[in-house]
Formats: sequence, structure tokens, C-alpha cells
Amino acid sequence: MCPPDYYGIEYEINPWMSRSQQSDPKFACQQWEALNQLLQSLGAHVELMTPVKGLPDLVFTANAGLIWKDVAFLSLFRHEARQGETPLDRDWFQKAGFETIEMPDDCFFEGAGDALFCGDTLFAGYLIRSDVRAMQWVAEKMNCRVIPLQLVDDFYYHLDTCFCPISKTEAIYYPPAFDEYAQQALKEHVPHLIPVVENEAQRFACNAVVLDQSVVLNTGCLQLEKDLNARGYQTYSTPLDEFIKAGGSAKCLTLRLDGERAAVWP
Ligand code: ARG
Repeated sequence: MCPPDYYGIEYEINPWMSRSQQSDPKFACQQWEALNQLLQSLGAHVELMTPVKGLPDLVFTANAGLIWKDVAFLSLFRHEARQGETPLDRDWFQKAGFETIEMPDDCFFEGAGDALFCGDTLFAGYLIRSDVRAMQWVAEKMNCRVIPLQLVDDFYYHLDTCFCPISKTEAIYYPPAFDEYAQQALKEHVPHLIPVVENEAQRFACNAVVLDQSVVLNTGCLQLEKDLNARGYQTYSTPLDEFIKAGGSAKCLTLRLDGERAAVWP
């Protein structure tokens, strides 16, 4: 995670962001700290990145890269406003002992924001931020099956805003964020799909952090919490409205370094 010391809405690169709708630095810090504490209370060991002035979205560490074993596939951000993050991410990963791999030129790739493992398959959101070619390139390096999923709604511009694997066979998703073909592919490849309703998708219901049987998410997603409880998951909600102003929530504020529960490779 990266503390929100310099977090703010300084540019507009997705429909949630509006410079006239600033985040409140004090609330942002409180909300971020509460998430950090909650994750630790659930057993997570949290490593921090140093925040940097002028890089307000560095808090969204999910976009630093895609972690696979001891490899970090670095992001190549579509928007220039975020490209300054990558050298810092590269340094951080290298100091932490990860091998870093750069994307080929003009293959945009936004890391764990768009690439999520479920079972032995990499589910890859493309079009709005990442390029489908980038996904195929990464999957080839890992020798892993990739299912490209076309994202069709600008409000759900990263895969982790509309899809969240919670185990090898279960995932949360918001169907209208995907084209017809992607919806079909999800149904074919994920045995248990848990759809969320529109108003909870807008509360970033799909942007959840999974720690064993615990699922951490923004407040206001009661239907999803019920559905997860019925499947045996404990749910924990914590307010993250200050980050929704930038188009992010719990999951984007974290990057799992030791393998997601839903991934087969750990
Ligand atoms: N303002 C950031 C952006 O548009 C938010 C990133 C949220 N990250 C995510 N993984 N969904 O790039």
C-alpha cells in the first residue's frame, strides 16, 4: 500500500474524476488508515511504498504491476499523468527482491487493475486502459491461459472495478461492464459467478480485497455482503468514498505480493 499523503484529484482520466470534486485530505487519510488497520487485523502483513508529490494516484498500488511468483510485470500506463509512477514501482519491486519485466513499447498494461488470476487462468480486461496485445504478451511469458475480456463501460475502466475472483471457482462481477462475448466467456470459465446490482457496482462492490475467507470492501454493498455471507465468507466494510472520487476503492489501494487466494500458482 502507499499512504495518501499526496493523493488528490489533479487530473481527469476516468469518469469518476472531477477536479471540481476534490477529495478531503483528512478524510482520505482516515479512510486509508482504517483500511490498512482492518487488513492487518485480518492477518495481512502490509508493506508500504513512499508517497511522492505530483503522483496523486500512486496510492492505487494495484496498478504498479502484475505479480506472478517472484516476478513483477511492470505497468505501462495509457495516460501520461500516471507514467511517472513506473520508475518508482520498478525500484520498489527490485528492492523487495522481485524480478521486474518491462512491457514492449506501446503495449499499454495497467497491472493487477486489469489482470486477475482465477484458478490457473489469467482474466484480462482490455480496451479502455490495457491493450489486448499486452495481455497476450504477459500470458505467454507465464505460459498461462489468458481470457481477454472487453470492457465496454467507461465507468468500469479497469477489470478490478467489475470483476473480483474470490476463490479458484468463484468470482464477483458486474455483467453490464462487459461485452456479450466476455459475459459468455466468464460464464464458461468461472463455475460460480456472483453478480452485483448496479447501485452496488457504483459503490465499487467488485473492488474487494480477499484474505482467506474474509472479504473487505467499501460500505453500501449490503446485497453482495449477504450473498458472500451465504457462501461462507465473512465480510468487512469500511468507508472509502474519498477514493471513489478518483475511481478506486479497497482492492485498487492494495497490491497482493504473495499470490491471490483465487490464483492456483501460489
Ligand atoms: N485515478 C486512477 C486511474 O484512473 C484510479 C485507479 C484505480 N485503480 C484500479 N486498479 N482500478 O488510473
